[in-house]
Amino acid sequence: MKHLLQIGDLNEEQILNLIKTALELKATKNIIGVKQKTIVANLFFEDSTRTHKSFEIAQKKLNMDVINFNSQTSSINKGETLYDTVLTFSCLEVDCLVIRHQQKKYYEKLIESKNINCSIINGGDGEGEHPTQSLLDLMTIYENFKNFKNLKIAILGDLKYSRVAHSNMKILKSLGAKIYFFGPKKWYKSEYQIYGEYKNIDEIISQIDVLMLLRIQNERQSQEDKIEIDYLNKYGLNQKRYQQLNDKAIIMHPCPVNRDVEIESCLVESQKSKILDQMNNGLYMRMAILKEILKEKF
Ligand code: CP
Repeated sequence: MKHLLQIGDLNEEQILNLIKTALELKATKNIIGVKQKTIVANLFFEDSTRTHKSFEIAQKKLNMDVINFNSQTSSINKGETLYDTVLTFSCLEVDCLVIRHQQKKYYEKLIESKNINCSIINGGDGEGEHPTQSLLDLMTIYENFKNFKNLKIAILGDLKYSRVAHSNMKILKSLGAKIYFFGPKKWYKSEYQIYGEYKNIDEIISQIDVLMLLRIQNERQSQEDKIEIDYLNKYGLNQKRYQQLNDKAIIMHPCPVNRDVEIESCLVESQKSKILDQMNNGLYMRMAILKEILKEKF
């Protein structure tokens, strides 16, 4: 595997192997670093805490040399394009780039280039996909259920702009989960029908295994996308809905959380919430991904 750009780049076996590696790293803390000089650079053109910092910590734990690119003080300000920035890092013999960029499928032109040789890991492409978040979400689900087949998974919220939802609906469907969607109808697109069914959450909440909440992507929404309602009680997870979840159900959210909007603040660290596990798993899953992409360095 040279790049990780979309969740569909991976088949079931590769996903299960990444989960296995990440779970082993988490359980044993048996971390073997690179045996050869390995330079990785993190290029975040959109804000990030979890993805950026968990990649950076993963890279440091694996003894890689890390460059954090600051677009605010770079030649981007002189009009340099993403292509030319990445071409520069490739000429500087960087082994791997983790890139988050606002443009959907920004990576297409980069991987076509015969002069860009470094591996690329997609840390989020606009409203496109977020494959590494999807993998850490799969790890979290696997930790709890040891399986994906026939799990009932409800994905709630900003389906239109959430790249996490776009990756997860594709992969969870292909792994055999049954998916339900809920949220404001204007954030739901008919193209999601191939992955699951739009359903009022209050009709199915007691049957749900995984309640996957999404952050409202305020920074991407247009004026027409905005809604003026009591979002928490209409579409989010409040205490009343929490009480209706079955004993084994888990709650997930990719974060950052808009507290008291997508989820009532006191439920973020509640018994059924796996939100903190997701953040911790992000570290181990990103180590597993780096180990796989830079296999020849270990
Ligand atoms: N989940 C996620 O991508 O968080 P960050 O935006 O903080 O990286």
